[in-house]
Amino acid sequence: MTRLGILISGRGSNLRAIAAAARDGRLGAEIALVLSNRPGAPGLAWAREQGLPVCELPSAGREREDYDREVVARLRSAGVELVALAGYMRLLSGVLLDAYPGRILNIHPSLLPAFPGLDAQQQAIEYGVKFSGCTVHFVDESLDGGPVLVQAVVPVLDSDDAAALAARILEQEHRLYPEAIRLVAEGRVRLDGRHVRVSAKI
Ligand code: GRF
Repeated sequence: MTRLGILISGRGSNLRAIAAAARDGRLGAEIALVLSNRPGAPGLAWAREQGLPVCELPSAGREREDYDREVVARLRSAGVELVALAGYMRLLSGVLLDAYPGRILNIHPSLLPAFPGLDAQQQAIEYGVKFSGCTVHFVDESLDGGPVLVQAVVPVLDSDDAAALAARILEQEHRLYPEAIRLVAEGRVRLDGRHVRVSAKI
């Protein structure tokens, strides 16, 4: 079974959804490590309580490449083959990208390439779009710009504020991310430049 590393910085609700899928045999992968770059991350405390393998590796004040070298060492020693960023609030350097080429996923709360970066839900509301959603994509050196694996769409309602839209999107994130991880873990995903080809289940 594919050994998955999950990188977090905060709340960890996607982590919980992924862990629930793993428990129910819906992930096609096992959680080999949960790493947080923020010591106080609620998601880290939760993972510890669950008995998941955790690593607390504070990044504050650390030089990017030097820090990522240590992340790679921790991932490798846990036997991690596939990495999922789940609310990981740090740009990756080439050190981490080169260690796991085409093997790092991220989830972003918008229909990329619309609204990359921070506060994607607020950006969507301010822009006035009628639909938004979430995107699982491969990570490259750009900010939220790597090849798109899967997306889910939600309506934006006139009554929405950023919190209401975020909650609607989050529900889809929790469904979509475990499904996306499963596709990669089962070896059904091929990268073809910017295009991600998904083969049917055999
Ligand atoms: C999610 O909205 C995710 O799309 C974004 O950061 C948030 C993380 O939430 N990248 P959580 O920590 O998984 O609850």
